[in-house]
Order: sequence, then structure tokens, then C-alpha cells
Amino acid sequence: MAEVVILPSAAEAGELAARAIAALVATTPDAVLGLATGSTPLTTWRALAAQALDLSRVRGFALDEYVGLPEGHPESYRAVIAREVAEPLGLTPALVRVPGDGGGALSGAGARYENDIIAAGGVDLQILGIGRTGHIGFNEPGSSLASLTRVKTLAEQTRIDNSRFFPSIDDVPTHCITQGLGTILRARHLVLLAFGSGKAAAVASALEGPVSASTPGSVVQLHPKVTVIVDEAAAADLEHADYYRHAWANRFDWERF
Ligand code: PGA
Repeated sequence: MAEVVILPSAAEAGELAARAIAALVATTPDAVLGLATGSTPLTTWRALAAQALDLSRVRGFALDEYVGLPEGHPESYRAVIAREVAEPLGLTPALVRVPGDGGGALSGAGARYENDIIAAGGVDLQILGIGRTGHIGFNEPGSSLASLTRVKTLAEQTRIDNSRFFPSIDDVPTHCITQGLGTILRARHLVLLAFGSGKAAAVASALEGPVSASTPGSVVQLHPKVTVIVDEAAAADLEHADYYRHAWANRFDWERF
């Protein structure tokens, strides 16, 4: 069972996630962070930036990237990660990777990214959002539970959701390159964040539904160390919400024993 933490606001959730990252970096200054784009992790980045830690040795691997945007496009995840994550946190640009960023044939980009993650020693802590489709990374419903980094098609719902960042839906790419569900499961700690009523169904399905390719986020149920941090609205469809609240309020304090 994942540790599920229900907090009043996205700001408080971001502070908790930032604390987990700060604790990791305090013991491991060159930790490998799994970076996520989107609106959801912004409070985490903000809270972490406010701590003004030295994160210059941290290595980062982004979850996913669009395919087909021109080099340097401001909505490419390479640009988004640089602007919203690396710069405010003081990460070293050369240590931050995005799928497909090494050049070379796209057909081999997935395997190269997998090898690079392994060469870095694997991801210590992976920040995850979840899409309304239930996707994590860009693994849309139907993705293999064992998938590795590869080129995929974006779900229409995801293109609609992401069209807010583009002049029109026609400008949203149709394809992406994304870490697979199997890649994500190799990270040592998963921190899944979700806020707002639009995510309630996906959160309930991921945490309490069957593990299924129809809800890619449900693979977190297979991982031994998952922290899910949601606000009340995103928790609204959880059947065991009271149990999670109770478990968090009474969490076992190992330090005291
Ligand atoms: P969002 O996207 O954080 O912008 O809602 C999450 C996701 O699609 O994984």
C-alpha cells in the first residue's frame, strides 16, 4: 500500500514533496531526480527553490518529451524543464537530461535513455503527476506495464488538456517519447502528486482500482516505496480516504523506537 497523504492545498503538498527531495540531497548531494513537467509539480519546485539548497551536483532525468517540435520551442519539455525546474533550483544544465536529447535516430533514443539512466545508477526519487487519462509520463491507457522509454502517440484527451500551452490544438504534437511504466517502476522512490477535482477519478482508479494498462498510473501499486500526495479535491473519489488520513496522522515514527 502506498503511503497516501491528503493535505488541504497544493502548496502544502509541494512543501512535503520538497522536504523529501531535500532530505535525499542532504545525504546524497549527487542524487538522481526524476523530473516531471506540467502544472502539478510547480509547488514542489517553488518550495524547493525557497530552501536555496546547493543542488548543483543533482542529476535529473525528465519523464518525457514531445516529438516533432522545432529545436528550442518554448513548450518542448527540454525548454520547460530548463525554465521551470533547472534554473529556479540551480541544477547544472549538463546534468539534466530529457528523452531524445542526445541527437541520433529517434528509433534508438529510448534505449540510449534507458542506458543513461542505468549508467547514472538509477533514479533515486521520481516526481510524478497523473493525467486525467490516468497516464504517468506520457504512458496513455493501453501502455504495457513493463514498457521502457519509447516513442508513443498522445491520447486525444491529453492533447486537449495540453492545448492550453499552444495557440491551438492543431499545434499540439501527436507523438512523444516517454519513459515507460517499467522505467518508472525502477526508480527507488515514487512521489505521485495530484490536485483538483479533475484528477479525482484518475487518482481513485490508480490507487484503488485494479492494476491495469487501462489506468497506467495503477502501476504504482506494484512499487514498494510510493508516496502519494493529493489535495482534498483530488482525494474526493478515494474510498479509503479516512484510512489514509488516519494512517498519516498516526504514522509510525521509527526514530522514537
Ligand atoms: P498537469 O499534468 O500537472 O499539467 O495536470 C499532469 C500529467 O499530465 O501528468
